[in-house]
Amino acid sequence: MGNSENRLQKRVEDSQIEQVFQVRPEHLNGAGRLFGGQLMAWIDEVAALVGLRHAQSNIVTASVDNLEFIQGAYQNDLIVLVGRVTFVGNTSMEVRVDTYVESMVDGMRRPINRAYLTLVAVDENGKPQKVPQLCIETESQRAEWEAGQKRKAMHIQRKKEGF
Ligand SMILES: CC(C)(COP(=O)(O)OP(=O)(O)OC[C@H]1O[C@@H](n2cnc3c(N)ncnc32)[C@H](O)[C@@H]1OP(=O)(O)O)[C@@H](O)C(=O)NCCC(=O)NCCS
Repeated sequence: MGNSENRLQKRVEDSQIEQVFQVRPEHLNGAGRLFGGQLMAWIDEVAALVGLRHAQSNIVTASVDNLEFIQGAYQNDLIVLVGRVTFVGNTSMEVRVDTYVESMVDGMRRPINRAYLTLVAVDENGKPQKVPQLCIETESQRAEWEAGQKRKAMHIQRKKEGF
């Protein structure tokens, strides 16, 4: 996608990750639900692993967009996080993380959270460095790419105007 400078290209599947956790007593808040901060830590961890696999270098989380808690989760629930790259810039990558509760009876997945994280590849001095391009292969990947482009434009506008 837009690869005019001969950068290495990688596919979405090359870095996609699925990770499973079980909700334990130490993950609950006072109301007996999965603590939102715990879920955010898992989301950040999964996004970072996706970013590491795509960039094959150190990465840092720069920002989080559209983090949406859709439903709660409870003790013993199986939490499945699926992370994949949706968009890349020069040194930044956007990773979408979808979180589900998976039924232990029939394996059906119920979405409970969705978030988009921007990660930046950095060198040993913490300086941003280039990431591989993303090879777009499907219509849904293209739609995600275009949405990612819009979110990046929003970041730039927010930074410029300070809102
Ligand atoms: C993220 C960071 C490296 C960016 O450094 P910077 O000097 O602002 O770098 P630049 O302005 O050159 O931007 C580099 C890229 O990051 C993107 N970026 C910077 N700040 C961003 C933000 N807040 N949200 C989204 N993207 C951001 C830029 O758009 C640019 O993308 P591109 O190269 O794909 O076009 C720096 O702000 C940082 O180190 N932040 C702390 C990260 C951290 O500690 N995270 C928590 C633990 S992992």
